Amino acid sequence: MSEASWHKVATMAEIGPGEMKQVRVGPRYVALYNVAGTVYATDDICTHADASLSEGYLEGDIVECPLHQGRFHVPTGKAMGAPVTVDIATFQVRIEGADILVSIPGA
Ligand code: FES
Repeated sequence: MSEASWHKVATMAEIGPGEMKQVRVGPRYVALYNVAGTVYATDDICTHADASLSEGYLEGDIVECPLHQGRFHVPTGKAMGAPVTVDIATFQVRIEGADILVSIPGA
């Protein structure tokens, strides 16, 4: 993965433990999650329909979609069962000082 694909999207001060935040990289909406101090990133748009996961509920490392309560495992993007059957894309995260960077392929 090339160095050029890393994007600074937020700072650690913007997303406390147990919180989520939507950021945008080009045309893509990305959800950031702070799971007990570790930051993860996935696509923000649910694979089931047009809903923003960052407007849902984060319980530990599971995010629940606000529209039909589909659940995804945040670190791996795995769909946890109906109605979601397609995994959500995950992205690499890097912390540099207070900055959060994500690697988005092709962005
Ligand atoms: S839109 Fe997310 S579960 Fe339906």
